[in-house]
Amino acid sequence: MENHEKKITEQTESFVKQELAGAESGHDWWHIYRVRNLAERIAKEEKADTFVVTLGALLHDIADAKFHNGDETVGPKKAKTFLHTQNLPTETIDKILNIIRFVSFKNSDEKPDDDSLELQIIQDADRLDALGAIGIARAFSYGGFKNREMYNPDIPPKPEMSKAEYKKSESTTINHFYEKLLLLKEMMHTNTGKRMAAERHRFMEQFLEEFFAEWKGNA
Ligand code: ADP
Ligand code: NI
Repeated sequence: MENHEKKITEQTESFVKQELAGAESGHDWWHIYRVRNLAERIAKEEKADTFVVTLGALLHDIADAKFHNGDETVGPKKAKTFLHTQNLPTETIDKILNIIRFVSFKNSDEKPDDDSLELQIIQDADRLDALGAIGIARAFSYGGFKNREMYNPDIPPKPEMSKAEYKKSESTTINHFYEKLLLLKEMMHTNTGKRMAAERHRFMEQFLEEFFAEWKGNA
């Protein structure tokens, strides 16, 4: 990486850390750290623009709509203001902003202006961090934060929710696996992402099997 790019990357890291201070543990700096590492790894294998991927990963969650009364424009606005303070070509800024606008699961029924490989990579990396051991930990952490029941056999999962229903759903954390996490494997874009998602998916299935066995006292 060029010196100039390295410096912008470091400044972006500081900006994001500052913005995310005090964030809930599923959306904190360490989520960004993991998504960035995953995204850079995928970018190498898929021969994408690593600099755009790194900045996109760092900025992809700076203002989650969930914590801004559903306002999905707060994040892109903050990112735009920040990126304009950096010495970057307009074209690079546009690529990064396109990523930030469309990376979220809830936006996936809308079509991005530019469905770039870099956007697909960040989406894959963000989804991978919702899968596997980390995904399980994040789900229960989020459920606890929201004071949700871990599991309730009387509340069946609803895998076919609309965007509006999904946003206001008060379902159990185990249901979240059936409403989102187990669906993500089929939504991966890159071959590298698909391979990694398959492994993490298998791990979650094993976890659920054990969970239900223990729930009934069978294990
Ligand atoms: P993203 O912003 O990455 O599209 P979310 O903000 O919806 O996704 O989710 C972030 C993390 O919180 C994920 O690991 C996800 O599984 C978890 N999470 C989101 N909603 C729920 C829920 N209703 N129950 C449990 N975990 C959840
Ligand atoms: Ni994210």
